[in-house]
Amino acid sequence: MDFDQRPIAAASPRVGLAGVNGYGRNHLRNAVRLDGEGLLRLVAYADVAPDAAGTVAALCPHPLPGYASFERLLADEALDIAVLGTPIPLHAEMIDQAFAHDVSVLVEKPPVVTVQDLDRLLQAQEGRDVVCQVGFQNARSPVIRALGQLGRSGVLGEIELVGIAGHWQRSDAYYARTDWAGALVHRGRHVLDGTLTNPFAHALMNALLVAGRDDDHPATPATVQAELYRCRDIDGDDTASVRITTDEGIPIVAAVTLVAGTHADPRVFVKGSLATATAYYTKGRLEIDPPEFPLAVSPDTSGQAPDLLANVAEVVRGTNKQLLVPLRLCRGFVLALNGMYESAGRPRPVSPRFTTDRSENGERWVHLDGVDDLIEHCAQTGQLFSEAGAGWASSTQAFSLARYHTFDLFRS
Ligand SMILES: NC(=O)c1ccc[n+]([C@@H]2O[C@H](COP(=O)([O-])OP(=O)(O)OC[C@H]3O[C@@H](n4cnc5c(N)ncnc54)[C@H](O)[C@@H]3O)[C@@H](O)[C@H]2O)c1
Repeated sequence: MDFDQRPIAAASPRVGLAGVNGYGRNHLRNAVRLDGEGLLRLVAYADVAPDAAGTVAALCPHPLPGYASFERLLADEALDIAVLGTPIPLHAEMIDQAFAHDVSVLVEKPPVVTVQDLDRLLQAQEGRDVVCQVGFQNARSPVIRALGQLGRSGVLGEIELVGIAGHWQRSDAYYARTDWAGALVHRGRHVLDGTLTNPFAHALMNALLVAGRDDDHPATPATVQAELYRCRDIDGDDTASVRITTDEGIPIVAAVTLVAGTHADPRVFVKGSLATATAYYTKGRLEIDPPEFPLAVSPDTSGQAPDLLANVAEVVRGTNKQLLVPLRLCRGFVLALNGMYESAGRPRPVSPRFTTDRSENGERWVHLDGVDDLIEHCAQTGQLFSEAGAGWASSTQAFSLARYHTFDLFRS
């Protein structure tokens, strides 16, 4: 566990939110709850959306000053903690701004999308009295901890791979909700908005943790081979298969799609020579296959994932030294993202002859025919789509991340 060295003062830290619509609503509700419990004081918010004040009025029982600029919020409100539920391409700059005001941060995932931004921010943090937590809300959940411990204990036999399987369906509304959705670059800033950067980011982070040496040392990607595809008219991928070799020696494979035929709970699993353990991380459920496989001690998966804002508030108050998901823990995650695009290049379009459209109540979904079985096959075997014979897929090369320090694709 990370012991963040912050001798902190604030008895009841002053918290400001940036981004209160979209996913930020969850942070607003949670901050209101924790304010009610006296753990922190929710003092103000910043948002550029005209209807943000309405969101705040509906969810916050007391009046909350609103700012149209994050910089003004920082300048005027003497915050201790800023919660960033803002668009991905703004995270790096906003973390920088918060640090410059000596304000600690809870930033939504992905914290940043290039390894140079991550390294720069880690450097900027050094010597400052600030912490930066990343919103991977199930990374410290009982089920992910249990999965990691099972894999490392040897009880599953020799570990063949850590797998990710994800079948989700995203409609047109998902891509219409915000102007950076599905973009690789937005207004000159990297977004890399695709399956494993955004909706399945939790799965990738969880897999790296599970394949790591211990709970505090996620696996470090050594090479990444990725096939990234898009069935929709977007720049980012909506269907991906990825194979990651790690310095720790355990390969990670991911097969995920947002154009599934059927929606299923995403999962991270450890495939051992004797048995497979699977974490349905959004549901907190752990399964062993075969079900009758004898475990000397059944892992305890009861209880909730710890609340990440409460944890930052405790660390800032000085009542807890353990920051749960510090920024530095996410370096392997960001390296994996960069390696994926270095290997695959721009996501490749899939011809509409392989897809089917479905409309319901004015909403439209795209389905890549046969993708559900393919996802299962690739996640189980570690094959990429082209190796599994998908008619629309073509092969890529593995990319080595040795001494990799700058991601610079797609901007020109
Ligand atoms: N942890 C999770 O499970 C989870 C789930 C969904 C989204 N997210 C993450 O939440 C973040 C936000 O995603 P979203 O889809 O809600 O984004 P969004 O584009 O809907 O924006 C969120 C909010 O930020 C506001 N905003 C935009 N520019 C701003 C600025 N310059 N200053 C202040 N506010 C600004 C928007 O008006 C909006 O209210 C992303 O990082 C996303 O990956 C996390």
